Amino acid sequence: MNYLYLERVDSTNKWAKSHIKEIEDKTIVYTFNQTAGRGRLNRKWTNIGNDNIYASIVLKPSGKMEDVYSNLTQYLCLVIAQVIEEYNAVPKIKWPNDIQINNKKISGILAEVEGANSDGNFDGIVLGFGVNLNTSKEILNKIDQPATALNIEAGVSVDKEEFLKKVSDKFCLLYDRFIEEGFLLIKEEYIKRASFLNKEVSVKVFDRVVSGKAAGITDNGALKIVDSNNEEQILFIGDIL
Ligand code: BTN
Repeated sequence: MNYLYLERVDSTNKWAKSHIKEIEDKTIVYTFNQTAGRGRLNRKWTNIGNDNIYASIVLKPSGKMEDVYSNLTQYLCLVIAQVIEEYNAVPKIKWPNDIQINNKKISGILAEVEGANSDGNFDGIVLGFGVNLNTSKEILNKIDQPATALNIEAGVSVDKEEFLKKVSDKFCLLYDRFIEEGFLLIKEEYIKRASFLNKEVSVKVFDRVVSGKAAGITDNGALKIVDSNNEEQILFIGDIL
């Protein structure tokens, strides 16, 4: 992995997208001072201080879009969860790629594709992630959803550079195989940490809500919902409410 450190930036995703042509494949653009971070569904990602990680992995696996690329957020999500476990905390994955501890969010991922055109070509994938590593409960309370941080869960302060290195090393370990083999490679480990399976859930999919039992995860990483009429729906995108 190549490392590209920015002293201060509005958003590492935005910066990576606007410099996509100059950035090499497998580069992690990171900062500890992100002033206007963005999350999924037009949410913002709050700057909770410079002892936390705000980063974007730039990938250029090929020039043409393939289905497996949409599972890269789940791959990164599992990698981050496994690194969190090294600190003796117990993270859970909320499909598709949120990480929570005791129902409080500790990490989120925002994937964006830059330079896509109608032929299916693109310039690069930007996998942005934020991890709450060291902060106070007072600061976390200002976030608009329940949130926690690793220092609180693990009871130790966390070396941010070391954490980032662990994530990028682990990400590289199986990345090439993941691109070849797809979600199936990590399905078992992903499911082990899934917090939502066999529970009644409501999932927001664009402007509709699908409710039912979260009955499983398919070999492609999609969520299988069985509704009250016993009808099955496979969701490729959405947000568990
Ligand atoms: C979410 O849970 O909604 C996704 C949050 C993603 C936040 C990260 S922080 C680094 C990168 N730059 C951004 O502006 N967003 C992502």
